[in-house]
Formats: sequence, structure tokens, C-alpha cells
Amino acid sequence: MFGAMKHVAVVALVLVMAAGCGVQDETVPTTSAGPVETAAATSVPTPATTATTSLPPTTTITTRAPTGDGPLNAIEDGIGDPYYPELGNSGYDVAHYTLDLVFDPESDILTGNVTIDAVATSDLHTFNLDFIGFEIEEVLVDASIADFARTEEELTIRPGTVIPQGESFDVSVFYSGTPQPLASAAISFGVGWSTSPSGQRYVVAEPDGARSWYPANDHPLDKATYTFLVTVPDPLFAAANGTLTDMVTDLGQTTFVWEMADPMAPYLATVVIGDYTLVVDEVSTDLAGVPVRNVLPPDLRDAVPDAVLRQGEMIDFFAELFGPYPFDAYGIAVVDGFPAALETQTMVVFGRPLLNELVIVHELAHQWFGNHVSPGRWQDIWLNEGFASYAEWLWIEASLGIEGVAVGITQERDRFVGSGLAPPGSPPPDDLFNASVYRIGAMTLHALRLSVGDEAFFDTLRTYVARFGGGTATTDDFIAVAEEVSGQDLDALFEAWLFGDDVPEFPVG
Ligand code: TRP
Ligand code: ZN
Repeated sequence: MFGAMKHVAVVALVLVMAAGCGVQDETVPTTSAGPVETAAATSVPTPATTATTSLPPTTTITTRAPTGDGPLNAIEDGIGDPYYPELGNSGYDVAHYTLDLVFDPESDILTGNVTIDAVATSDLHTFNLDFIGFEIEEVLVDASIADFARTEEELTIRPGTVIPQGESFDVSVFYSGTPQPLASAAISFGVGWSTSPSGQRYVVAEPDGARSWYPANDHPLDKATYTFLVTVPDPLFAAANGTLTDMVTDLGQTTFVWEMADPMAPYLATVVIGDYTLVVDEVSTDLAGVPVRNVLPPDLRDAVPDAVLRQGEMIDFFAELFGPYPFDAYGIAVVDGFPAALETQTMVVFGRPLLNELVIVHELAHQWFGNHVSPGRWQDIWLNEGFASYAEWLWIEASLGIEGVAVGITQERDRFVGSGLAPPGSPPPDDLFNASVYRIGAMTLHALRLSVGDEAFFDTLRTYVARFGGGTATTDDFIAVAEEVSGQDLDALFEAWLFGDDVPEFPVG
């Protein structure tokens, strides 16, 4: 699968180089779809699964267990995602997460106090959080001690009294342990809290790894705002999503406070810890109209790569095409060894081996497609990856013109004929980020553009972002916007590209 992608990527690289765009990196640029095979083969540590309470873990499904003294059985009611039924929970809606985390790299122990402000959407006798591993010391609901029980994946909490539908409540979970990546249901390498070869710590949790480091309603359908308080020993630096609002040093430790003021899907939360400097890029900040700041190791701080310094220009470019940049800040945090990048909201975790212009463009485009508008179901992942991949073509178009794109994308399409890959609208649940989702997903948008024309196409993208920004959308939502804006019936086009057995021909533009 990566063979096909590499092939394709080389075309894009050649095109860009022909235009003198300054891609100097020898790394395959087109995708950040996870590590290459060698890295993917690294062993994924299995999650700690020990239940840490004396209550018996069980798989019994008891949706409305009455409160009282009876045994507390973990309930397993996900939020209803057909691909990953165990993800997310029902019965409440999270408004805000406060992640108060103390990390000691020496012992490798993370001590967490996570407080979740939520609203009950039904009468809650019990409710679930997604959480794997760690020892839980205590759970409080509205400051009172609550009973809890665990299975492998669910933390079930029983407040002292029933929380009536419509009421706000808060739940605090106190826990500690050694965080480790989790075997993902969707991707062939571990997701969640990770350690780089040089000892940096970073979190990359798409799609199902948020629950490996904090208790969450782990599905994009429940977005929330976040506060991070990350305490690490001096002189380490800790980054997270959003804006650094405070730094408090005491007794050889510093607490870094980060605020994510816009709604964020749980998988996009990150923390990056290491020997880092927060470097503000003034030129990019001016061009972008929001602070552009990068979290860089010493050698890159002293020589910021050219492509990284073009992020302001890129934000300006995409704001024109997609609508205003949706968040308060932007930048990347560079980690060693990691042969991938993840679009963690406003603070992209960027593996050094992939640090090149087209991947920088790709992760930036995810801020609109994936982060501001998030997938309503994981099956709809082409709404993230197809769009971010098409953004690479748009960036290429700025230098090579539409003719260059037409040649490149047609050659690529021809190579995908008969590939046997699942169509992008229904990717395999255990290989969610396959090449089809990225590359045929991008071609789907190109086919739409050829059918409806540039004006309706870009109007569709902007309308879609404006309408679903801050929330989620599905494939059907996107198709409905495209039909509304163009006034055309596009069912046949989307059916063929997203669900057909083989790659269709591009429409004649
Ligand atoms: N969304 C990533 C991209 O930009 C791919 C990805 C999915 C990923 N899950 C990941 C990368 C976990 C790193 C870790 O294409
Ligand atoms: Zn992507």
C-alpha cells in the first residue's frame, strides 16, 4: 500500500521541484499516513488492562443501573460509531476538560487529575468514560466521592445521587502510572502517549488513543474546550494545544498552562515534552493574522527550515480558499524519529523525517478539514485525509498551474486503477488510513471540481466549513452542500468515486 503512495508522491515531488518550490527534503512528501513499513512493524506495547478497583470487572450491559449499594457493573454503551462501537459514551455532553498533569521523565510516571465539566443529556444513574491503564485513586462527582468500576476500556462511575437530565456536573479522576501507546483498532502502530528515541514525550492519538492518557468521551461527536496544566522538572518545556497562558516555576518544576478555547475532538489533544523552545515566527504571524509559534529542539531553533517559515504564507493562502483560519494560533512541535505527523489542533506533532513542504501544507489544511470540521463517524475519514491531500494539490497548483495538477493527478489516478483497495468512502476499519482514503479521496474532490466548475467548487468548500465548523459532518452532509451550491444532482459522481469498485475516469472539465 505504501508502495503505491510512494510512487504517487514522487510525481508530486518532481512537479514541485520543477517549479522550484524549494522542497529539498528527500523524504517522500505526499502523505503523513503513519510510519513506513519498517517503523510500523515495531512492537506495540499492550495496554495495561488490570482493573484497579475491588469491584468485579464485567462485560454485563446494564444501561440504567439504579444507584444504591449493589455491585457496580461497567456498562459498555459507545456513542454509536458503526466502525468502533466501544468509542465514546452517551448520556452526557462534555463542555470542558481540565488536564492537570505532572510528569516525571526519570520515573516515567504520569500523575493526573482530570476534571470534566459536562451536562447530563439523560438522567444519569451511572455513566462511562473511555480510559485505559493507570491506577485510579479516586473519582469525585461534584466534589463528592463516587463509586467506580472498570473494564478493559470503560470507566463506569456512579455518582452518589442521580444527575437529572439537563443538569451540569463535574467529574474529577485522580490517577497515576506509566503512560504507554495503545494498540489501535484502526492503525498498525501504537497511538497515544509516546517516547521518541531521544526521550521527548509526545501524544499522537488518532483515532482511538485519547483514552490511553486521559479519561475522555473519546469520539469527535463530543468536542469540548480544554485547559492543560503540565508540570515537568526544569529545564524541560511542555507544550499543548492552543495558547500558553502561564508558566509557574516552583521547587525545580515548571507548570505550563495552555488553553484551547475552541471546541476540540479528544483525539486532537496533545502534550509534547522535551528540550524545546517556543519560537514565535514574526513574519508568519503577520501574514496569518494569528500567532504562528513553533516548538523546536535546539538545532532547529537556531536554523528554522525554510518550509517551516512559510507557514504564514500557507495560512494566508488557504484562508483565501477555505475561509478564515479557524483557531487562535498555529505551529508545529518537532519530535525525533517519528516517521509521521499528526494534525493535533493548533500544535501539529511533526516527525522530523517528514518535515517537508507538502506535509506541512497537509497538516495545516487539517485545521479546517478534520479539526474545525471533524468527522461525524470514523468511516468518513476521507473528509479529513482526502481534503488535506487535495490541499497539497492546491498548493502545487499555485506554482505549476492547473495544467500541472491535471497531469499529475491523472497519472496518479491511472496507477490506482485495479489496485484492489477499498474505496475511500468505506475504508477497512482495521486500516482506516490507507492510501485510498488519502489519494482517491483527493481525486474525488478533483472530480467534483471538474464537474461543477471552480466557482461552485470553492464555494462548496467554504460553505461546508462555515456550516459545520466547530462541530462534525458526515459524507452525506458534504454531498448535500455540494448539491445545494452547484444546483446539480451529484449522487452518481460521489457514488462512483467514494463507493465504486474501481477508480472512475475523471469527468471532462
Ligand atoms: N492524520 C494523520 C495525517 O495527517 C495520519 C495519522 C492517523 C497519524 N493516525 C495517526 C499520524 C497517529 C500519527 C499518529 O495524515
Ligand atoms: Zn492527514
